[in-house]
Amino acid sequence: MWKNGQVFWLEHEVNAGLQSYLDPKFRTAFVPLCGNSNSMIFMHRKGLKVTGLEFHEDAVRQFFDENNIEYKTGEDKMKFYESKCSGIRIYVGDLFAFETEQKFDFIWDRGSLVAISPEDRGRYAVLMSSLLADGGKILLEGIQFGENPKSVYKDVGPPGAPYNLVEQMVRELYLNHHIEVLPQAEGSENDVELMKTLKEMFGEAIRTHYFISK
Ligand SMILES: C[S@@+](CC[C@H](N)C(=O)[O-])C[C@H]1O[C@@H](n2cnc3c(N)ncnc32)[C@H](O)[C@@H]1O
Repeated sequence: MWKNGQVFWLEHEVNAGLQSYLDPKFRTAFVPLCGNSNSMIFMHRKGLKVTGLEFHEDAVRQFFDENNIEYKTGEDKMKFYESKCSGIRIYVGDLFAFETEQKFDFIWDRGSLVAISPEDRGRYAVLMSSLLADGGKILLEGIQFGENPKSVYKDVGPPGAPYNLVEQMVRELYLNHHIEVLPQAEGSENDVELMKTLKEMFGEAIRTHYFISK
């Protein structure tokens, strides 16, 4: 997909949930399965030190090139690309092979948990929880395929990613965590291009944001 540029999940606007719910007190952010998401630029501009992880190197290079950010590469158990000012580092590799001592104040989970196959969700949640600093928060965007009874993906979601992720699933995955279902962020429908694509592909897709903390 990265090679031929078909990345239907791409947000053209900065995610409305992130804009509404990013807490200015957070200093470090982790973005699992980051792709070339513009959210990393947004958080960097808000003063956070951003660490992303993505297994397609093309996407990572694209991120730095398209945003005209000069970068260097390095190795810290996994290859990484890093902006010259060191404010954004993106590791290239499989999330489940990521090893770090670092803990993050904030984890931005958009297009990540929903892209993980259901059988791997349990270990994914354990990993995210282990990367979260005490007092930190995960901001998660879930996706639900249609309250509209005509939606063919209602209840189950489409075959393959993005997989259906509703509140009950979030609660079961993050047992013993505090889960807050957030009100629909203002401007959530503003990303007209993305919403149009989602509608064409899935009929209906409702995006919900959650705060998860330990
Ligand atoms: C749906 S996209 C979302 C990208 C980004 N979070 C966004 O919102 O635009 C999921 C990304 O995860 C990457 N990916 C999938 N499984 C991965 C894994 N196990 N480790 C690292 N990256 C992975 C894919 O290459 C893809 O770029």
